[in-house]
Amino acid sequence: MGYRKVVVAGGGVLGSQIAYQAAYCGFDVTVWLRSEASIGRAQPKIDNLYEEYRKIIEIMDTPEGKNPAVWARGIADLDGFDKAKCLAQAENAYKSLKLELDMAKAVEDADLVIESMAEDTKEKIAFYQKMAPLLPEKTVVVTNSSTLLPSTFAKYTGRPDKYLSLHFANHIWTNNTAEVMAQPLTDKRYFEELIQFANEIRMVALPVNKEKNGYLLNSLLVPFLLSGLDLYVNGVSDPESIDKAWTLGTGAPRGPFQIFDVVGMKTAYHIVLQYQKVPGLFGPLLKKMMMPYNFKAQEACLKKMIDEGKLGKASGEGFYKYN
Ligand SMILES: NC(=O)c1ccc[n+]([C@@H]2O[C@H](COP(=O)([O-])OP(=O)(O)OC[C@H]3O[C@@H](n4cnc5c(N)ncnc54)[C@H](O)[C@@H]3O)[C@@H](O)[C@H]2O)c1
Repeated sequence: MGYRKVVVAGGGVLGSQIAYQAAYCGFDVTVWLRSEASIGRAQPKIDNLYEEYRKIIEIMDTPEGKNPAVWARGIADLDGFDKAKCLAQAENAYKSLKLELDMAKAVEDADLVIESMAEDTKEKIAFYQKMAPLLPEKTVVVTNSSTLLPSTFAKYTGRPDKYLSLHFANHIWTNNTAEVMAQPLTDKRYFEELIQFANEIRMVALPVNKEKNGYLLNSLLVPFLLSGLDLYVNGVSDPESIDKAWTLGTGAPRGPFQIFDVVGMKTAYHIVLQYQKVPGLFGPLLKKMMMPYNFKAQEACLKKMIDEGKLGKASGEGFYKYN
């Protein structure tokens, strides 16, 4: 391992998952949190992750759990799966994870800081400015931001050459990708180090050599989802036919509305609100389109579904009905 001590700033949905996964893979992990209240919110998340990993490891040990489509690749390889070893790693992660309120103490001797705080530019800048003078020379800093570009923050870190993006997906233990994205001032050496680190925490590292809003996945997925929704809200066709056009036409397992039902309507609504404003994601598309996306109708459609409790597969109904 190149790095040893890893600090995760923020213990929310993703911060807690990244921290737990890195600890599961044997890194010395500290989660920096800003207040006692944040500890109160982060600790139950970590407790749940420990439970979740143990539950998944038990399932992975059953014949049904061996299905490659549901296998938790972040936890172990299918070949040579060793249940006892995985359970021991899960326990070690739980016992070794540290929560720290004192920023100076948290980043002391850190090899890597992974910033995974709420998506707020001003708050992130204030955090980097506060942390910069406390960091050891060697520390590499990354952001897990989904929609903000690392070049926005590089100058506040005091180490623009050692600053880049490392973007994870929710449910890190199954959706084990890590998009590694450089900004113009990133030294190639740290880009390579991050690829290695991502692999060491059992992620499939995906290099993004240039800054790009939406990285790889969301650059593909978000326009796809919203294009499907747009066809529907503009009365061009119905969800089932749009899904069939995609699945039968390409062999893909799910169409946009089947994906919406899985991710849930609240997340979908959030995506419509957030991503239409992300420069560089829709901008070039919108300029060239004869009929631009009808974002207002998309928002209204999803809001109505949320109000009606049609939240997706988990609630029993979204665009489709489930038993
Ligand atoms: N949720 C996802 O599916 C997902 C996926 C990939 C990346 N991300 C990115 O990860 C980051 C965190 O997202 P999340 O979903 O975990 O959010 P979240 O709301 O669950 O957690 C945010 C965390 O940041 C902390 N925080 C907020 N403001 C702070 C401040 N000023 N100082 C210190 N801590 C502060 C909160 O206490 C909390 O621990 C965002 O940049 C987001 O874009 C999220």
